[in-house]
Amino acid sequence: MKSHDLIIVGAGLSGMRAALEGVKAGIDVAVVTKVHPLRSHSCAAQGGINAAINPNDDWRVHAYDTVKGSDFIGDEDAIDLMCEEAPIIIHEMDQMGTPFSRNDNGDIAQRPFGGASFDRTCYAADRTGQVLLHTLWERLVHSGTHVYEECHVFKLVLSADGHVAGLVVYDIKTGELFTLRGKAVLLATGGYGRVFLSSTNATTNTGDGMAYAMRAGAPLADMEFVQFHPTGLRTSGILVTEGARGEGGYLINAEGERFMGRYAPKKWELASRDVVSRAEQTEILEGRGENGAIFLDLRHLGRDKIIDRLPQIRILAMDLEGVDPIDAPIPVRPTVHYSMGGIRTDKYGAAPVPGLFAAGEAACVSVHGANRLGGNSLLDTIVFGKITGAHASKYVKTARLHDFPADALGEVEERVRELKSRPDRGVRPAALHHEMAESMNAWCGVYREVNGIATLAGKFAGWRQDYERIHLDDKSPIFNVDLLRAIELRNLLDLGECIVKGALAREESRGAHFRIDFPNRDDANWRKHTLAFWDEAGQTIRLDFEAVRTVGNPEYAPKERTY
Ligand code: FUM
Repeated sequence: MKSHDLIIVGAGLSGMRAALEGVKAGIDVAVVTKVHPLRSHSCAAQGGINAAINPNDDWRVHAYDTVKGSDFIGDEDAIDLMCEEAPIIIHEMDQMGTPFSRNDNGDIAQRPFGGASFDRTCYAADRTGQVLLHTLWERLVHSGTHVYEECHVFKLVLSADGHVAGLVVYDIKTGELFTLRGKAVLLATGGYGRVFLSSTNATTNTGDGMAYAMRAGAPLADMEFVQFHPTGLRTSGILVTEGARGEGGYLINAEGERFMGRYAPKKWELASRDVVSRAEQTEILEGRGENGAIFLDLRHLGRDKIIDRLPQIRILAMDLEGVDPIDAPIPVRPTVHYSMGGIRTDKYGAAPVPGLFAAGEAACVSVHGANRLGGNSLLDTIVFGKITGAHASKYVKTARLHDFPADALGEVEERVRELKSRPDRGVRPAALHHEMAESMNAWCGVYREVNGIATLAGKFAGWRQDYERIHLDDKSPIFNVDLLRAIELRNLLDLGECIVKGALAREESRGAHFRIDFPNRDDANWRKHTLAFWDEAGQTIRLDFEAVRTVGNPEYAPKERTY
């Protein structure tokens, strides 16, 4: 059986940044990834990464903006840590060779982003995630780190005494199942956008690490907080960067009215994402949209600026909506984009299962609370990839390999064999996925109310029964996407139920979670994190709650959040 000191699952920004810390610490680190690292979803982040690098800015102001953006439920120690580290990691990435856009004087360029009180979003045109990803990939290749590419983790394995023991991994290229032993596992598997039908996320974003961690006993925190990005393309949901509004783009309704002043009189289009998404949804619901969309108008920016700063979104709009933003507004709508919730960790990325760590969107540190600010996601991935990688590397130096249960591989092999041997009738995984995802959008979207959420909550038991009757059309060993989607569907069901149960329990409105029946924030009862646990006996989700970590800074005291 192969073994490593530290196994990182996921090769996006947080996974690769964590691996480089392992290399630096001189441990045996390996990375397992279900797609080639350069296809990781980090590459889809377009608009930028926040850091107070301008002498007139201050990390403390960035931290306050983040606390406020989180609607006062982010953990303040982690937020302070992230914002103080931000300028350091920008300069590190710059020195590693990231081609940031520059001002005429050579400084790294920064643009305005939503919910920020300073223009602090560093960018590389509208391909920021992609250039950061390439930079880290070059470093990882140079380091000689072993990467198990196109290998999908099917199980996180614990020893009999409850320590992380390793993984059961499926090689997508050959259909072979194999085991990896590790002293520690760091999950950097990203978000779960595919729980919903309309999403900016890649089809690979199925929250696998979150689901495996929860089934291994780790709680997931704040799963009801799901971010809708205000500008997903109407038809495909593909992202149109917030940078387009940062560069001066307007939102207009079907009557041609620039409506955001009615909802956010100070910041207009650059209010935080929860506020802008609700404003758009209200326009659509009140009949001022067109075919379920409103419009992003960039025409006044002019051809040169659009081509220089927003080249990718111009191509996306032309290819996918048939609209050239130089000449016409782009139809957009609020679209699921980001999971504020995730595997509950301390501020060093340690989960409450010995030997388990998590970073990036898979984790809930929690720096985003109820609503993440644009540009803080790329920052979170690199800051906490680095911190968690260093912490996990230190941990494995004094840890040992724990016993790997002899039947772990056999159980997964039997599960795959049984799935493939089912008769060609029953439920198709894609159909079940579609039903769940469509229902999530309908009843657990930008606006939520008790009847819809309760109806949705009642459906999960039936969907779990349907899941037991799924069958595969493809029985082959090589690139069997049918099998992968079936395994991922179980993860999506678990995460969907966490989201819905959290949304039903949280009887208030905070950040991205808006309850029509409880339209106000309720700090007295609900300024706390939701924790979701897997109940193996009941085959369901159970909830608990945890206090927000505060640092005693009086400026962070909750107040009305206006933009
Ligand atoms: O709009 C965007 O460019 C996305 C950035 C983010 O989610 O941080």
